Amino acid sequence: EIGSFSHFMEKEIFEQPVALENAMRGRFSADGSTAQFGGLNLTPIEVRQIDRFAFCGCGTAWHACLVAEHLIERFARVPVEVDYASEFRYRNSPLDGNTLFFVVSQSGETIDTLGALREAKRKGYKVLAINNTVGSSIAREADGGIYQHVGPEIGVASTKAFTSQLLIGAMFALYVARMRDMSFSDGVEYVKALKAAPDLVRKALEQAPRIKEIAKRYAQYADMLFLGRLSLFPIALEGALKLKEISYIHAEGYPAAEMKHGPIALISEKCPSVFFAPKSEIFNKIVSSIQEIKARNGKTIVITTEGCEFPPGVADDVIYIPDCHEAVLPIVATVPVQLLSYYIACERGCDVDKPRNLAKSVTVE
Ligand code: M6R
Repeated sequence: EIGSFSHFMEKEIFEQPVALENAMRGRFSADGSTAQFGGLNLTPIEVRQIDRFAFCGCGTAWHACLVAEHLIERFARVPVEVDYASEFRYRNSPLDGNTLFFVVSQSGETIDTLGALREAKRKGYKVLAINNTVGSSIAREADGGIYQHVGPEIGVASTKAFTSQLLIGAMFALYVARMRDMSFSDGVEYVKALKAAPDLVRKALEQAPRIKEIAKRYAQYADMLFLGRLSLFPIALEGALKLKEISYIHAEGYPAAEMKHGPIALISEKCPSVFFAPKSEIFNKIVSSIQEIKARNGKTIVITTEGCEFPPGVADDVIYIPDCHEAVLPIVATVPVQLLSYYIACERGCDVDKPRNLAKSVTVE
C-alpha cells in the first residue's frame, strides 16, 4: 500500500494534490461562481440568517478552524469564534441563537470534539461536522456537514486531512460570501483559484529535494520557532506541531510580530526560526522581524512566494512556493513545513508513522 514511499506520512504528503481534487469534486456551482455542499441540511435562507459561526477541533483540526475563521471573516464578513473542543465543553461560552456550530475532526472519534458537539447540541445549536470518516461517531451525531473525501489517513501526523480541511474552510467561506457581499466576478476568480490549488501543491512538492537538503542542516537543534502572520499564523502553529510530534524537537508557533513581546529572548545561534514571508502588504514588516532574529545570530529558513527578494544576509535558506490567491495560500504554504518536519524526523531516525506517546485518534479525555 505504501508503494515506493518510505512512510505513510510521506505518501500522504505527496497524495495531497489528488486528495484536494477529491475534496472539491462536484462542489462548485454550474456558473462557476460559488461552492455548493450536499449535506449541510440547511436551506440557503437559513445560512443567510446566521450571524456568527463557532468552530471547534483539537490539534491540527483546531489549526484548520483558525484558518477558516480568517477566511470567513475576511471574505464573508461574518464573525467567527474558535475554541479548543476540550475547552468549549467546560467553559460555558455564551452563544446566541443565530450561531451555527462546526466541529472539525479527521477521525470523527476524538472524544473532546464529540463532547463539544454534544454540549453544543444540548444547548440547542445546530452542529455541522467537517469530517473525513463516513459513519464515524461525529458524522452520526452531527446535524449535517461536509465530508473531506480524502481516503484513510494512516500516518499519526495529519497531512492530507489538514490541507483538505483548509480547502473546505475556504470553500465554505466562498459559499457564505456569495450569499452576502461577494460579486459574481470575484466569486469566479475565487473558484478558479481553488481549482488551481492541486497544481500549486504539485509545484510546492517539487521543492522536496531541496527541503531534504535543508533538513540535514537543521536536524540536530533542540528548539525551533515558526513564525507567520494573518492566515499563515495557524500554519506556523501547524509547522511547530508537526515538528514536535514526529521529530521530538521542541518548537513553538507565533505570529511574527509577537516575537518582541517575549519569545525573542529564546533567539540565539542555537534556536533557528522558520518564517512565512509571502508577498503581501505587510511583507516589509515581516522582513524587519526576520532582521531582528538575524541581529541575534538566529538562523532563518524563509518560506516565500516566487518573485520575492530579501536584503543580503536575511535568509539563511529560502524555500519558494508559487504565488497564489489568499484563500489557497495556507494550503500551499503548509507543504514546505510538512516536508521539513518529515525530513528532519527521518534524519533523526524517528519512527515517523508511529511517534512515541501518540495515537491516531484520541478517544479518551
Ligand atoms: O481526528 P481528529 O482530527 O479529531 O484529531 C485531532 C487531533 O488529535 C489531531 O489532529 C492531532 O493533533 C494530530 N496528531 C496532528 O498531526
